[in-house]
Amino acid sequence: MPDTLSITDNRTGKTYEVPIEDGTIKALDLRKIKTDEEDFGLMAYDPGFMNTAACKSRITFIDGDKGILRYRGYPIEQLAEQSDFLEVAYLLYFGELPTRSQLDDFKRTVLSHTIIHEQTKKFIDGFRHDSHPMGAFLSTVAALSTFYREVKNIFDAQNRVIQFERMVAKMPTIAAFCHRHSIGMPFAYPDNDLSYAGNFLNMMFKGTETKFKPNPVLERAMDVLFILHADHEQNCSTTTMRGIGSSHCDPFTALAGAAAALYGPLHGGANEAVLKMLVEIGSKDRVPEFIRRVKAGEGQRLMGFGHRVYKNYDPRAKIIKKVAFEVFEVTGRNPLLDIALELERIALEDDYFVGRKLYPNVDFYSGLIYQAMGFPTEMFPVLFAIPRTPGWLSQWEEQILDPEQRIVRPRQVYLGYDEREYVPMAIREESTQAV
Ligand code: CMC
Repeated sequence: MPDTLSITDNRTGKTYEVPIEDGTIKALDLRKIKTDEEDFGLMAYDPGFMNTAACKSRITFIDGDKGILRYRGYPIEQLAEQSDFLEVAYLLYFGELPTRSQLDDFKRTVLSHTIIHEQTKKFIDGFRHDSHPMGAFLSTVAALSTFYREVKNIFDAQNRVIQFERMVAKMPTIAAFCHRHSIGMPFAYPDNDLSYAGNFLNMMFKGTETKFKPNPVLERAMDVLFILHADHEQNCSTTTMRGIGSSHCDPFTALAGAAAALYGPLHGGANEAVLKMLVEIGSKDRVPEFIRRVKAGEGQRLMGFGHRVYKNYDPRAKIIKKVAFEVFEVTGRNPLLDIALELERIALEDDYFVGRKLYPNVDFYSGLIYQAMGFPTEMFPVLFAIPRTPGWLSQWEEQILDPEQRIVRPRQVYLGYDEREYVPMAIREESTQAV
């Protein structure tokens, strides 16, 4: 059987044969379908890109119906169990697991880049003391592009690697400095004797002690959370990264845009929204009433539930739930956990959620862990942005090296006025003006 699609245009009676490749048809092939020579040709209308593949990728695989997530072919469960974040960052960007010496070199290089230029602290100091750390974080990332003039040489492979190592290294430092500014604490400088995750905890939580010693359970939990957030194929922020990257701007600026896309409560801001929701619900006995209101559309959605791609339990949420119990062994049980467990229990039995295939996503339990570890709620989206950095940069690299890619420029269906004459102010009537 030929791999083609026959389309009959009932407006003209003409039939077109369109090739099918990798389960897709080329949207441009639709343009051949015209009513006459003057006609622009058919387009696909797809708000929110519900069914549009904008790229070919070899980085991350998701099967949303089965709840499968793999980076470069490796199941997320195996990576969370056996790998560490910097190895995963290497895997995502370079495409293969490193050898021992490659990994050692990579880790040494990344850790040598953790310091940020002293002047960067001046921007951070310029933010109001109570500014949201995600706003400060993404603005500082954009500002960093001005420090490294060579970032614009995006078609120099060696230069791209340096920027990758630099950005993976500096994100935790920027994030922790933004946090400490917001609470009026002096910045804690990186300690490169520590692991990537351990050093981040050091920069966040170091007090007056001369050397910060991370709790090994919390350090490992942080690292696992970083692994789970490292990439997630063509989500809103990655699409933004690729979109901005398609104009060939530098990776710092593109990444600041991706972080901005992540900020919203429907994406990486959801973990913050989950915590606020749990606090608002307040106690287990108020869960049924909250669920009733969600279903009736009277209040907010059940945050941390549902996903565009997963129509099954998000595999990351399963791992995070397990990590949560390990963390609570050290920190004590987060009292909001009981409300979360009750929400999950009721929602998973309720026809509204079952029928719509709404399951817990990555954000449902992560906030509880972050809170128990001492992170303020406003830091949650930043905790998503740090580990997504290697994912964003791997996707950006794939995009700019793909000869099929062009500057992103979707079409629109124009439904506005046809041409009309300009009306001089003197003869415009108040009552006829649209508001
Ligand atoms: N609570 C209640 N109802 C929901 C929810 C929810 N969390 N999510 C979806 N629905 C309903 C929605 O009202 C709609 O119902 P109906 O068909 O009756 O109109 C149906 O389910 C389909 O929803 P949708 O909005 O068309 O689905 P989407 O694919 O456009 O949205 C989503 C995906 C993640 C934005 C959405 O599920 C949501 O808003 N979830 C809550 C926010 C959240 O947890 N976001 C984190 C996503 S995972 C991390 C990340 O990638 O950033």
